Amino acid sequence: MAEVTFEGVSKYFGDVVAVDDLTLSAGDDDFLVLLGPSGCGKSTALRMLAGLETPTSGTLRIAGEVVNHVEPKQRDISMVFQSYALYPHKSVYANIAFPLRARKMPKAEQHERVTDAARMLGLDDLLERRPGQLSGGQRQRVALARAIVRHPQVFLMDEPLSNLDAKMRTQTRAELVELHQRLRTTFVYVTHDQVEAMTMGTTVAVMEAGRLQQLGPPQEVYDRPANVFVARFIGSPPMNILDGTLADRDGERLLVLPGLEVVLPPDVATSLELGADRREIVVGVRPEHLIVGDEGLPVTVRVVESLGHERHLVCETTDGTMIIARVGGDAPVPADGSAAHLSTTVERLHLFDAVTGDRIVR
Ligand SMILES: Nc1ncnc2c1ncn2[C@@H]1O[C@H](COP(=O)(O)OP(=O)(O)OP(=O)(O)O)[C@@H](O)[C@H]1O
Ligand SMILES: [Mg+2]
Repeated sequence: MAEVTFEGVSKYFGDVVAVDDLTLSAGDDDFLVLLGPSGCGKSTALRMLAGLETPTSGTLRIAGEVVNHVEPKQRDISMVFQSYALYPHKSVYANIAFPLRARKMPKAEQHERVTDAARMLGLDDLLERRPGQLSGGQRQRVALARAIVRHPQVFLMDEPLSNLDAKMRTQTRAELVELHQRLRTTFVYVTHDQVEAMTMGTTVAVMEAGRLQQLGPPQEVYDRPANVFVARFIGSPPMNILDGTLADRDGERLLVLPGLEVVLPPDVATSLELGADRREIVVGVRPEHLIVGDEGLPVTVRVVESLGHERHLVCETTDGTMIIARVGGDAPVPADGSAAHLSTTVERLHLFDAVTGDRIVR
């Protein structure tokens, strides 16, 4: 059992708070993805697990043992770095075999592991080359192969697919998921790519500015984002965000949006506290949940983007907010510049507090 656990872990670089009071854990069955924008502290969190940075405060455990000050070599982990460092004078084969040679594994077994990993990553024909004779994507695959030849307690991967082309990336994604299922080893995987997080993670930890924003299975994070940041970060195109107001009139509770008033059903209305006589609110709705028709929010269609299998209607509300509706590739669409209306059901709306940005639970 190789559970990894962050307990209130922070890392400061001088004044910079790279990781701020991080608490989370991942076990053998977990493919934990640390997801967030550039600079949010993902690599720093991973480097602390690897032993390349020491936490400023908090406790870090691997398999129950506190590892805050344990040497990297003493941790049974395998890591793929964001900047993959290969030995320039060794062949691809020798690079991949390196961690096995260092452990004095019998040659025959080394050979089997190296050829297995090379086959999985499409490197069979490149084993005699030097890193300098490879493309960036090929080098990245060598770094990945070198990490997976060992069967450590924990795999740490920092954006290992960033240099691969789209096809290779999709293929390698599936292979890593399969590898995880086969080895039943804890994976901690860093990326800023929400598609990787959605497709590979059993658990996603969304970070921003060093802080954990939400932790959960990818579908749950997508369906019920904890705050406006997560709502915007996960999903492509991202969730639409509109400023709205809640107000009471004639015994009914209204949601007021630019050019539209919606009477909220009683069960929704009673779950929303108003405090004063009105409340500013942030309303989110996913592009795929909008219906283009004759009623609803009045908008002007600015551009229709076609992706072949689907189209994105980039629209503008009466107060100038951009809102995107996603429709099928063969659905009839209004012309650029024309007026349209967008509607959805109340259940599809995500409501967030206007001040804190936190989800209003209902
Ligand atoms: N050695 C260091 N000295 C000073 N500041 C650092 C150091 N390493 C990281 N930082 C800062 O800590 C913050 C988090 O950096 P980190 O590399 O963990 O981000 P990241 O989420 O991995 O970003 P990216 O997606 O760009 O790789 C950043 O503001 C970064 O500038
Ligand atoms: Mg990084």
